[in-house]
Amino acid sequence: MAHLLEMENLTKDFGGIRAVDSLTCCVDEGSITGIIGPNGAGKTTVFNLITGVYRPTTGAILLEGASIVGDRPDVIVGKGVTRTFQNIRLFNRQTCLENVMTPLLQRTPCSLFSALLRTPHARRVDRTVRAKAMSLLVAMGIESYADAKASTLPYGLQRKLEIARALAAEPKLLLLDEPAAGMNPEETRSLADLIARVHADFNVSILLIEHHMDLVMNICSPVIVMNFGALLAVGRPDEVRADERVIGAYLGRKKRDGNKAAAPEGAEGEDRHAGARR
Ligand SMILES: Nc1ncnc2c1ncn2[C@@H]1O[C@H](COP(=O)(O)OP(=O)(O)OP(=O)(O)O)[C@@H](O)[C@H]1O
Ligand SMILES: [Mg+2]
Repeated sequence: MAHLLEMENLTKDFGGIRAVDSLTCCVDEGSITGIIGPNGAGKTTVFNLITGVYRPTTGAILLEGASIVGDRPDVIVGKGVTRTFQNIRLFNRQTCLENVMTPLLQRTPCSLFSALLRTPHARRVDRTVRAKAMSLLVAMGIESYADAKASTLPYGLQRKLEIARALAAEPKLLLLDEPAAGMNPEETRSLADLIARVHADFNVSILLIEHHMDLVMNICSPVIVMNFGALLAVGRPDEVRADERVIGAYLGRKKRDGNKAAAPEGAEGEDRHAGARR
């Protein structure tokens, strides 16, 4: 499989904190690649580096072999990388449909002049965009909320709306930052199915950060494990699950805490904020 995204010796310092430490890893085209690691391991910072929110202190990020370091976030979206956020970022006062229409309209050439005058072209654009946005809500199973304000949606559905919005830009690479956060086991299972369907139906590669180990182990391969900003391990779910370093560094703390055995399944849940934050 070709590498869609490559990170080479990627490092990000915030003052004295090294959030990402010489990380070298990649996302293969067509894969659902997972990133796991304790709280504060640097996972979200990696997304912020890929999407141009932060510039790396050193290191390279290549999308289809070409550097994207220094590109503005909107340019990186234009190159086919979109994301959802760990802390949901929707336009709360807009309806669900409008939340998905906004990025679509940004991609559609239609002058302000013709939009204001409601020219036939502008009306056509509006109809097409509306239909496309609706089809994305249908794909996420939230079409019945199309006219509801985003802020009124239950938390889990807001996460699905974020995925719909991220898909509107027709990405090659979709970055999902804890899409199952706050979901119960049943909701998490159905989200896993949904992500697998999105992966197939939208022909998109996915890089997914999660603390829900069942979800990662079921749909991601390979799984990248980060610890203290650095790459700890990478491999198939079963390889990562059995890796002593992973158990010791990330999952072992459950053992120390006297909870479930140090299996990846035990690493999710309510105690995740008690982890190895520096
Ligand atoms: N803008 C920032 N300024 C200073 N420090 C930051 C900034 N962003 C992240 N950090 C620090 O970098 C480290 C990595 O944070 P990051 O949010 O990437 O971790 P994470 O793996 O996503 O954790 P979690 O699982 O809790 O979401 C942490 O020590 C964090 O406090
Ligand atoms: Mg994070």
